[in-house]
Amino acid sequence: MSMREFIFYSQRARTSGNIKNLMKAGRIDIAIHTFIHSIFISNDMRNMTLHLIFDGPPDPPKHLTFVVNEESKQQMKQFISKKDISGLIKRMLYKCKKGKIFEAFPNCFIEKKSLQQLIKNVSSKKQVYLLDKKGIPIQQAIQKIDPDKAVFLFADHEGFGRMLKTLKKQLPSISLGKVTYFASQVAVILNHWLDNL
Ligand SMILES: C[S@@+](CC[C@H](N)C(=O)[O-])C[C@H]1O[C@@H](n2cnc3c(N)ncnc32)[C@H](O)[C@@H]1O
Repeated sequence: MSMREFIFYSQRARTSGNIKNLMKAGRIDIAIHTFIHSIFISNDMRNMTLHLIFDGPPDPPKHLTFVVNEESKQQMKQFISKKDISGLIKRMLYKCKKGKIFEAFPNCFIEKKSLQQLIKNVSSKKQVYLLDKKGIPIQQAIQKIDPDKAVFLFADHEGFGRMLKTLKKQLPSISLGKVTYFASQVAVILNHWLDNL
């Protein structure tokens, strides 16, 4: 069974668990929509790894990882509503300790790690692709992509800020066309292309 891998980056998502309003917490609501649209399909979950990098105050960066596989699916199925997912994310943020990878729930990990460090780690085994409107059209790029060896990186509404220039030099870019999509829509479109490979 193939294992998809996405990285979602948020410049402003809050990095502590004391969150009352998701929209005022650096738009963690966008991370939750992305979680739902990356992982869930009707009556099932995808086998995949989803990384969320939160770079907002008060203690950036935070790296949250969700590994969905045949074993973890049964337990993770309970996180289907936005409320459940936000509860899980808050719990993970509360439990994060410097220098440790903490498993807050089976196959849900949190640690202090930056986007660049994560890219370096995953690049040792896989190719990271940057989702960028000015990249190579997906229609062209998809033919050369091995879905088991590809990791797709995209951001929330704030984009990558000053990091974009470096990321563009560092990684091959893929475009989904002229329209600027929400991060959660990027997840849906990517999943659709990969489903049809
Ligand atoms: C809402 S967009 C970000 C818009 C932000 N103002 C910017 O300039 O980066 C969220 C992310 O989705 C991805 N994205 C959106 N539309 C895309 C497209 N047509 N092709 C490739 N990636 C896209 C990019 O990674 C972008 O960072």
